[in-house]
Amino acid sequence: MASSVTAASGEAPARKIYPIVKYGDPILEKPTPPVKKFDADLEELTEDMFASMYAAQGVGLAAPQIGKSLRLTVVDVTGGKNPEAKIVLANPEIIHAEGEVREEEGCLSIPGFRGYVMRPQFVTVRAQNARGETFEIRGENLLARAFCHEIDHLNGILFLQHLSMLKRDLIRRKIKKLKKQGEW
Ligand code: NI
Repeated sequence: MASSVTAASGEAPARKIYPIVKYGDPILEKPTPPVKKFDADLEELTEDMFASMYAAQGVGLAAPQIGKSLRLTVVDVTGGKNPEAKIVLANPEIIHAEGEVREEEGCLSIPGFRGYVMRPQFVTVRAQNARGETFEIRGENLLARAFCHEIDHLNGILFLQHLSMLKRDLIRRKIKKLKKQGEW
């Protein structure tokens, strides 16, 4: 999920910064297979995902957005300001949702476009961390929104699909035009 939060500059080890896959690439609209191998490579990948997300000034990034079809996402609604806010979700499922909030959201794969989406105010997610340990986490407001947005990605769903058909078609037409101009 995109944010206006500025990434914090730190002295983290050099990480691979992946380019973000943009809307139009079919990988974004395909459900992802589960993570099965929890090894050093997976931990490395999640750290690279955090670095790529901070570089793009996002608060959530799903594996398909870096070209990897895998049920894996990272979330940090502080934009890198608080190391304890880093959340790895492997094989996440929403097990409880409550309330409704309509807020504007964006997506790193659909840069420059935002739209109002209704999301639960609270969600509880069950997932595995990078070591394969199962945990549950509850999110409220922006964090709940980020969980829903990223888990949607893992199911091949983009926030555009939650907009009215009118708004969605408008954005699609604008993107088509940008593509023609070689700007997408
Ligand atoms: Ni997104």
